[in-house]
Order: sequence, then structure tokens, then C-alpha cells
Amino acid sequence: MKGKAVVVGAGGIGTAVASALADQGYSEVHVVSRGVETHLLSKVSTWCSDYSDPSIESIARAISERPGTLERLVITNGILQGDGYRPERALRQLSRATMAQIFDVNTILPMLWLGAFHEALRQADKPRMAVLSARVGSIEDNHLGGWYSYRASKAALNMVLKSAAIEYARRLPLVKLVAFHPGTTDTGLSKPFQRGVAPDKLFTPAFVAEKLATLLDEVVPDSELSYLAWDGSSIEW
Ligand SMILES: NC(=O)c1ccc[n+]([C@@H]2O[C@H](COP(=O)([O-])OP(=O)(O)OC[C@H]3O[C@@H](n4cnc5c(N)ncnc54)[C@H](OP(=O)(O)O)[C@@H]3O)[C@@H](O)[C@H]2O)c1
Repeated sequence: MKGKAVVVGAGGIGTAVASALADQGYSEVHVVSRGVETHLLSKVSTWCSDYSDPSIESIARAISERPGTLERLVITNGILQGDGYRPERALRQLSRATMAQIFDVNTILPMLWLGAFHEALRQADKPRMAVLSARVGSIEDNHLGGWYSYRASKAALNMVLKSAAIEYARRLPLVKLVAFHPGTTDTGLSKPFQRGVAPDKLFTPAFVAEKLATLLDEVVPDSELSYLAWDGSSIEW
């Protein structure tokens, strides 16, 4: 019998990942969200969170106390644009408040969830975790510039994940952490940027979720951080 799986964030990709994990037969699949459309999911337990520190702590504790070990943790939170801000094209468009907000959601929040589930992950045999990163967070791959805050938040995410992998390696020899690039996926986040994307390069959330669920099954639990695209290929840092 498989143990528990947790998905944080229930946007397009998060919802699809929760469905894919539920289909894989985990004993329990838990989805945490600010409350967006989790009622669409069957076979999962939903938790509403405002992502404050107390909320993260109490939800992580409640899920950890449920029966079974925590075998999968997938964190999907991420923002690219929102009310009053768009991805920057020039230095003059940088806003301290916007940058801080994007870092808060894209970089800091995933790490708070990883920290909150740390003890639960230690109970599992070979826990595998994925955090949704993005290829645009690759410094080597940055040939176009722009998107300052989003790029930087994902590059910073990769760095803090690297430190987490090093910390895990000291105490959890058979853990795996993946910074995952889903490819351009048809969700609310990418909607404004889909013009010019070839149809065969625009993935459905279900396709990406299936790729991620399979990748987590197949990846070697070596306590390293891997920066992987949807097809399992490595991305340069
Ligand atoms: N779609 C793509 O083409 C693409 C490409 C590369 C990387 N990604 C990454 O994939 C991940 C999932 O994105 P998606 O495509 O599924 O987009 P989406 O449908 O817009 O989902 C956005 C996700 O971010 C969370 N979120 C949004 N605003 C938030 C806020 N203010 N505070 C905390 N969480 C917030 C949502 O959580 P709630 O359920 O709590 O609302 C949801 O999980 C993101 O990290 C994104 O950067 C996507």
C-alpha cells in the first residue's frame, strides 16, 4: 500500500498533479490551496490555507499525523503577473513591492512548506519532492533578459532547494528533490504569453502531471537536487 501524497497549490498544474497522484493509488492525497476550485477534485482531501506561518504549520502537522508515511510532496505555487504588474522588460520597470511579492510566493513560500514537512519526510523510506521551478530560472539559459523578478525568483528557488538537498543528504540518504520545469503549459499563468507557442509545444496540465508523477517514480533517490524538464532532461543551472 502506498503512503500519502501532498500537493501544495491547486492551479492548473497543481490540480492535475493531484489527480495523477490519486490515480496512482496513494492511500491519501492532500491538496492545499487558498481555495481555488479544489472541489473539482475527487479522491483527494482539500485544505484551505492563507499561507501564513501558523496556517502552514497547523496544516502540515495535521496531514503528518494522518496514517501512512509521506511519500510525495509537490509544491506548485508560482506567480508571473498580477493586478498592476507584468513581467518586466526593462530595469526602469522594476518595483520593490512587486519583486518582493514574487519572491515571497515563488521562492520563500515553497521553502516554508518544505520545512514544515521536514519531520514527516524523515519517516518515509524514499520520499520524493518536486517544486515547480521554470527554465527561465536558469542563468546559463538566459539569452533574452527581461522578466527580472520571475527569473530571479526561480533562480533563487533553485539555490535554496540546493541548500535543502544538502541538508537532507546529512540525515536522509534516500531522498530526492527535483526543481521541475513543466514546459509551457496551458494554465492561467501562461495564458497571456501563449501567442507564438506552437500547438505541439503547449502542453495540457494533465500531460505535464503525468510526466511529473512518472518522473518522480523513476528518479534515483540520491539526496541530490536535480533541475529537470518535463521530459526528464537536465537543465543547465
Ligand atoms: N504554466 C506554465 O507554462 C509554466 C511554465 C513554467 C513554470 N511554471 C510554474 O508552474 C507552477 C504552477 O503554475 P500553473 O501554470 O499551474 O499556474 P496557475 O494555474 O496560475 O497556478 C498558480 C499557482 O500558484 C499559486 N498562487 C497564485 N497566487 C498565489 C499567491 N498570491 N500566494 C500563494 N500562492 C499563489 C496557486 O495556488 P492556490 O491554489 O493557493 O491559488 C497555484 O498553485 C508555478 O510555480 C509556475 O511558475 C508554469
